[in-house]
Amino acid sequence: MPKITVDGQTIEARDRQMILQACVDAGKTLPHYCYHPGLSIVASCRICLVEVEGIPKLVPSCQTPVREGMIVHTTSPKSVANQKQVMEYLLVNHPLDCPVCDQAGECTLQDYSYQYGRSQSRFEEDKHKKPKKDVGEHVMLYNDRCIMCTRCVRFTREISGTSELFVEGRGHKEEIDIFPGRPLDNKLSLNVVDLCPVGALLDKDFLFKQRVWFLKKTPSLSPVDAGGENIYLEHNEGVVYRVKPRFNADVNQWWISDDTRHSYKALSDERRLTVATKLQYGASAETSFSTALQTAVDGLKLVVKENGPGSLYAVLSPMMACEEAFLLGKMIRSLDPQAALVVGPVPSSGADEVFKNSLTGKQTFVIKAEKVPNATGVRRVLALLGGTTAEFSELVKADRAELKNLKAGWTVGGYLSAWIPKDAKDRPAVWNKGFKVVQDTLPSDLTNKADVFLPGTLWAEKDGTWENHAGKLQAFTTAVQPLEGTRREGDVYLTILGRKETYSAVKIREELGEAFATVKSPEENLTEPAFEFAEL
Ligand code: SF4
Ligand code: FES
Repeated sequence: MPKITVDGQTIEARDRQMILQACVDAGKTLPHYCYHPGLSIVASCRICLVEVEGIPKLVPSCQTPVREGMIVHTTSPKSVANQKQVMEYLLVNHPLDCPVCDQAGECTLQDYSYQYGRSQSRFEEDKHKKPKKDVGEHVMLYNDRCIMCTRCVRFTREISGTSELFVEGRGHKEEIDIFPGRPLDNKLSLNVVDLCPVGALLDKDFLFKQRVWFLKKTPSLSPVDAGGENIYLEHNEGVVYRVKPRFNADVNQWWISDDTRHSYKALSDERRLTVATKLQYGASAETSFSTALQTAVDGLKLVVKENGPGSLYAVLSPMMACEEAFLLGKMIRSLDPQAALVVGPVPSSGADEVFKNSLTGKQTFVIKAEKVPNATGVRRVLALLGGTTAEFSELVKADRAELKNLKAGWTVGGYLSAWIPKDAKDRPAVWNKGFKVVQDTLPSDLTNKADVFLPGTLWAEKDGTWENHAGKLQAFTTAVQPLEGTRREGDVYLTILGRKETYSAVKIREELGEAFATVKSPEENLTEPAFEFAEL
């Protein structure tokens, strides 16, 4: 482990680590634009230059490996003069449109201008103006704000492997562009917006919607597939405005898919159901949540009384948290100790989408084909609960003896889009004839025909744990309150179980045993995504 001295402070670095990495690991900040730990090093922006004793000229700290006994000065007159010159150069043609720029508040050009720049511009000539470009379905390019760090270009070559972006022209005329007829069109495209250190690449969906300093960040997980991508939900006054990646070295590193980024829209879907109903004279009628709940419990109890144990089922959605699945299993078994527990439909897009570095062919990212976040976790909970358990297809076939005499049950949806199989033959027969309670968020045939319907919540409105395709258990926390009229699933099951406490994922995890004992809350598990270093 080489030791170096930076501004008089001794730092222990890792072998072959770059000076910049070593400094940041030790808690020292150094300005940088083109450097990103997830991309190749090009050392083109030159703002990170430092003075190293024994080397006659300044060296790029992002590209210079440490060596034992190295003495580095980041605040010497030479280093500071370089920082000021680079800032002045970058601002020569940069428009002064911070008040209308989406990046304001999280722009490193703004921050470094304040920390390392001059307070006044000496440039009196006209600024060179470059046009705005619509570069893709989701991304807008404001070319005059670009500082040519090429992070975006390297991302499309090295991570998405799609190479849509390139540098056009030379010198002061160079700019980022797309090839004719080949827009920025890949399922990871919005990562270039996060990578852009200034407001040149912008997310069309978020454009002019919120000033970023109003947003609060809650660590969460992607609900769109089984990958378990770590995210932040960014919200203000109970409304989620955008989703950003949260660094996790084992799962998604710095990146997330565009689908994950747009998942927040499900929270404010106009079709969201918020009123409980019960079937009256063949039609569904609005009622209070508590009346609906009482009707549901009475109805299920009556079925067990008339038909004996083994007549109830519960369909547990793979959108549910493990803790909720556990409570639902307990709840239905408190009414019928032999109730069948069934994993809800697990939609799939066919095959995983694999992204590769276009230069090396190395795999960089995978979007999982399984389009729900917790099928693995729900199966784990069912195995813990034991008794009769089944997959949804087995409930449809109903050829197992334990599934033949089902008369009534509880079905949970909560998917982000339509999930009921279109073809009647792919639906369980028991849905057509028996007493059914449905908890869901979007309207469907099933919610319309439910004997009792209870409006449910989505992942951002509660706490819980999901298990991704690789068996990694990860927790998520509440970002916004449930919509008025809905109730958290966990609270509903606790009420039926006669437990007075409010639902707390942390407490339920204690009941779930050993496997869940190691699950950390996302707050405990945080690593700062803005500057996490990969082994390069
Ligand atoms: S658009 Fe942004 S990320 Fe791309 S080169 Fe310009 S400043 Fe860098
Ligand atoms: S960050 Fe080192 S040269 Fe750009």
